[in-house]
Amino acid sequence: MSTELTAEQAAMPEVIAFQEAVASFDAKIANDQISSSTQESFAVPYIGEYTPPDWSYSEQAGCTAEVENVDEIADLAAGYPCEGLAITIGTSFTQRDQYPFPTLYHNASSQVQSERDQELIQARIDNWFDGVRIPGAWVHGNVSSPDVLKNTVWTLRGTAEARATTARENHMGVNDADVGEDATDVFEALVHYFNKNILLFIFNPTILAKITDLIELFVSNAFDDDLFRLKFQFIDPILLAVPETRTSNIEHWNFYPDNLPGKYPKQPFDAEFRDDDVMSWLQVAHASPFSRLKPYTSHQSNFKVTNSIFRKTDAFSSDNLDTAMAEGRVFVCDFKEYHDANVKPRPNTGAVFYAGIAMFAVPKNGGDLKTIAMQSTQHTPSGWFQRTAWRNLNIQDSNKPFSEILTPKSNYWAWQQTKLAFMSMYAISNVIDHLSTHVFLYPVPISLYRNIPDHHPITALLEPHLMSLVANNHAGIFSEVGFPDILHQGYGDGTTGLLSGLPGKVSGWTGKTFIDETIRRANWYDFTAQGTPLDRNTDTDFSAISDFPLHDDSGTFPIIQEWVGNYIDLYYHSDTDVVMDHEVQNFCSDLEDKVTGFPASLGSKIELVDMLSRIIYWSSNNHAFEALLSNQQLAPFGYFSTWLPRANSNRSEQDYLNCLPPLNYGMASFCGGRIFVDLPHDWHRSLGKYPHGQFMHDPRVYAHLDNFQNQLFQLDEQLKVTNANRRWEYNLMRPATMTCSPWN
Ligand SMILES: [Fe+2]
Repeated sequence: MSTELTAEQAAMPEVIAFQEAVASFDAKIANDQISSSTQESFAVPYIGEYTPPDWSYSEQAGCTAEVENVDEIADLAAGYPCEGLAITIGTSFTQRDQYPFPTLYHNASSQVQSERDQELIQARIDNWFDGVRIPGAWVHGNVSSPDVLKNTVWTLRGTAEARATTARENHMGVNDADVGEDATDVFEALVHYFNKNILLFIFNPTILAKITDLIELFVSNAFDDDLFRLKFQFIDPILLAVPETRTSNIEHWNFYPDNLPGKYPKQPFDAEFRDDDVMSWLQVAHASPFSRLKPYTSHQSNFKVTNSIFRKTDAFSSDNLDTAMAEGRVFVCDFKEYHDANVKPRPNTGAVFYAGIAMFAVPKNGGDLKTIAMQSTQHTPSGWFQRTAWRNLNIQDSNKPFSEILTPKSNYWAWQQTKLAFMSMYAISNVIDHLSTHVFLYPVPISLYRNIPDHHPITALLEPHLMSLVANNHAGIFSEVGFPDILHQGYGDGTTGLLSGLPGKVSGWTGKTFIDETIRRANWYDFTAQGTPLDRNTDTDFSAISDFPLHDDSGTFPIIQEWVGNYIDLYYHSDTDVVMDHEVQNFCSDLEDKVTGFPASLGSKIELVDMLSRIIYWSSNNHAFEALLSNQQLAPFGYFSTWLPRANSNRSEQDYLNCLPPLNYGMASFCGGRIFVDLPHDWHRSLGKYPHGQFMHDPRVYAHLDNFQNQLFQLDEQLKVTNANRRWEYNLMRPATMTCSPWN
């Protein structure tokens, strides 16, 4: 609590009410928090026998694999009552029977073969690919499918007694049933923020009263079953309750509860966020697995960096641009792919995204990558008249916004503004990278449910890696806050979902632009090309960069391959086994035209292991994400001005602060950004973690699982040591921070 209140202020009724609300919030958090434990000491809720709904109507409708037109959807939807939409994101857990002992179809008894056939007949009725709702993307046409519901939460297998004697999945020090922190974190930050900055709001009692109401509302609903929805529902009240204000104190954009560093860790470079080296560091220590840094091998006509501009950065004053380019020391990050999205009609937030271009280089004597120059857009004014009209009156074609090249030696605050514009594009670009992996992978669980029966060995292997993907995608894209939506069977229009609806409220893009960009990016991925780590020994594009953490820390791929190879050896004895496995062949052929680069069929064990390893790699490594959005001073959800700094600008600190998001947008983005924190803490449902009892049906698996988990643990420890020798640590490629599936 702030100690700077005067006696008179402390006696204000609004302040007393606010402080009482904060006290009851703190008590609620303290009392309801479930403590972590390394043992399975939690009680598993009994969910009862599973009773499938009556699907008879849908059989009459003749459900097919792929639905191509809207009329078909309407017919099918009539037979599928949408079930309550109690969608969560894998923060919950449940318990089910252990899996049957796995067999391949051609080795199974005729009775088991018949069971599998029946299971898949029903599965194909229940699960289908819908290519209509979101043009360019495949979604699950029936989120009420039993297979979706069964694979939405962390699912322990067998009974607690059986697990106690047989299960050997390693907890790796974390109780995966503990969701306490994840349940409260979003709103907790807001309470701490107001407590910390009460003097900022005390002169507007209406604001304090609104915040007090919000806190009380949260205290009475904090442990609602549907935590995911609850989190998002608070974005709107935050936008309304927090003043749309600007201040002259940069600390007011620090939304982290400073007294909870373990729970709200800041970025390692937070204290030095204005250092130009942070810009170049974030190219190699990228916040998503897909850095856009490229070698700069020829001069770019719309980004005219001259030798004199190049030499302005310290360490390059006696260097030469053409020589540096020829030596492979110059790199560029060009956001041109977002230019078209950025000039589309914007929401009325005041935020703008600019498709910036930035140059980076390594000094001739080696060392870290350095920031050379930035240009905020794709176009520059040409000629005296155009330049003068733009510089003084901001006159330009709105479809081709102008900018000029600035460097670390430009006016200090103009340069900070240039970096801010660039970093806001970087921030949304990372969000697009992340969500597009969800969309890219979306068909995989659908095909699994349609083609792979419980008896098949890849069911137990893959289900945890696809857990919650369908439910999570559906909630983010289609589930609208506050709309029960009986009419659309739970499917909104795709631009107003829990997640897709956010950009239109706080950023420079509408929900439609956001979804369009996500789909565009998803359609750029190739299952194999982006599902293979870059080998720095054979790929020389970046050899001038001595430490490229994104690539140099990437070590999970061979470990995943070894685990999958050992697992597959238990069930497949020859390539013929793979060729004869029509279930896994159908799994592939269903995906061939839906996941770019996915194999249409498999001819060998090696191909099978390769395909399965890449699914796991995409679900964990390629779904990794740094919550950079939390850092609103560095990477906000848009640049809040249409006047970009000019090469001759003289700007003040207040000019710079005025381009940051207003406090309500900043706070809402911080809270929304917390959703993207990959894991509430290390090893919580991470890569390598499987629900207790997952492989209990076949104890032979455990020796290989032990090996897998140990290798991941060792890699993680090794990366911590590497980090200790870096200026800033980089955690994205640590297995402990990666999800086992896109469950969050
Ligand atoms: Fe995710």
